Amino acid sequence: MRVHVADHPLITHKLTVLRDENTPSPVFRALTEELVTLLAYEATRGVRVEEVEVKTPVTTTTGLAISQPRPLVVPILRAGLGMLEGMVKLLPTAEVGFLGMVRNEETLEPTTYAERLPDDLSDRQCFVLDPMLATGGSLGAAIDFLFQRGAVDVTAICLLAAPEGIAALEKATEGRDVTIVLGAMDERLDENGYIVPGLGDAGDRLYGLV
Ligand code: URA
Repeated sequence: MRVHVADHPLITHKLTVLRDENTPSPVFRALTEELVTLLAYEATRGVRVEEVEVKTPVTTTTGLAISQPRPLVVPILRAGLGMLEGMVKLLPTAEVGFLGMVRNEETLEPTTYAERLPDDLSDRQCFVLDPMLATGGSLGAAIDFLFQRGAVDVTAICLLAAPEGIAALEKATEGRDVTIVLGAMDERLDENGYIVPGLGDAGDRLYGLV
């Protein structure tokens, strides 16, 4: 598993505003979108391309275009939805699937409660959107789900992560082609599973249920 922490003053600046508890939902949503577009630029560095012929007003030349099958973008419900616009702004030809994960309170295992994805992901590059990589449980299950369907490589884009979640994902994705692109690596998880210093509950902050 490769982990890439974006190191750019614009990203750090926007994250600082997101962390501020006084930042209201409309600003939080707009900043999340902008941040994801910046992170997506990094996350799509390995997107597959193919040669195409293009006729300019002057001559004919060879360029590169994103290859088929198109990449698949998968926001994890609910908070991942807040990242979708920022991603498709940069990758407008991507297909979009949806995955809802919830933790079973008896087994504590993440399970899928909603799914709208192609049945066959053979040969697909997938980009998973999940803002907070905390314990890594739901993201690990989502990534596993995509590989079970035949995905060849999966890149997850997260705003923040805790080292505990990264360690758990390393184990869960061993031997698979997985990349994690982060806005920042935070210090730790607290006893309630929140990322510290973090930004609180990303879903609540996006959708205003604080
Ligand atoms: N999910 C969140 O929204 N925030 C955290 O800090 C951890 C998980």
